[in-house]
Amino acid sequence: MKKKVIIANWKMNHDFYETTSYLRNLLKIIFENKINQKKIIIAPSFPFLHISNQILQGTTLSIAAQNIHQMDNGSYTGEVSAPMLRSIGIKKVILGHSERRKYFTETNEILIKKIKIALKYGFNIIFCVGETEVDREKKEHFITVKNQLEKTIFYFSLEEINSFIIAYEPIWAIGTGKTATPEIAQHMHQYIRTLFLNKYGKRRANDLSILYGGSINDMNAKNLFLQKDIDGGLVGNYSLNIKKFLKIIQS
Ligand code: G3P
Repeated sequence: MKKKVIIANWKMNHDFYETTSYLRNLLKIIFENKINQKKIIIAPSFPFLHISNQILQGTTLSIAAQNIHQMDNGSYTGEVSAPMLRSIGIKKVILGHSERRKYFTETNEILIKKIKIALKYGFNIIFCVGETEVDREKKEHFITVKNQLEKTIFYFSLEEINSFIIAYEPIWAIGTGKTATPEIAQHMHQYIRTLFLNKYGKRRANDLSILYGGSINDMNAKNLFLQKDIDGGLVGNYSLNIKKFLKIIQS
């Protein structure tokens, strides 16, 4: 039975003190309340990955980076490479987030390079897909997500994509408070699983964790997570507050 996966994408939030006190309190509460029925991953900003990983060492929680550069090293001022992150024990990375596609012009071609280098250094990849409001209004949301998968992940073999997690994040729901209904989310998750079934076979499709992301909060998490093909969530805003995040974890 797959464990539900809950990922906190902190984006560009929390300084050193906020990060360390949050993680220490989260561990304390999880231990005291024996909250362990879900797989919890925290994605802080680059400067705090090392200390965060040290705090979570030996626990069931883990740390993910929010990005990596597509080259091993070189003259890319301000960037962070996969080997740098592996050197501090980071083994998970979020790729393809719509904010990186939008604000940092991450194309499918760049994402293929990022997937390749993440695989080269043994990362587990959380790969984001999702449509815009216009796509959905034009009833092109399924073809949009299909294209995103076919132009990136589906170039890779079953062995290569074995450790992937997919996050479906409808762009119109990210940071807007307009959460997808459980039915809308389930429909797209079911479609994504079918695409994986057709491409990689039944076993991989069944084993695949497909997370929903986009204005998850403590009120809507439970009904989302009850859906057959929703295997957890990628939480932004509501993961920044420890009390709210704990309610989502316990949904
Ligand atoms: O990666 C998760 C994020 O994009 C969702 O953000 O604030 O809508 O939960 P939010």
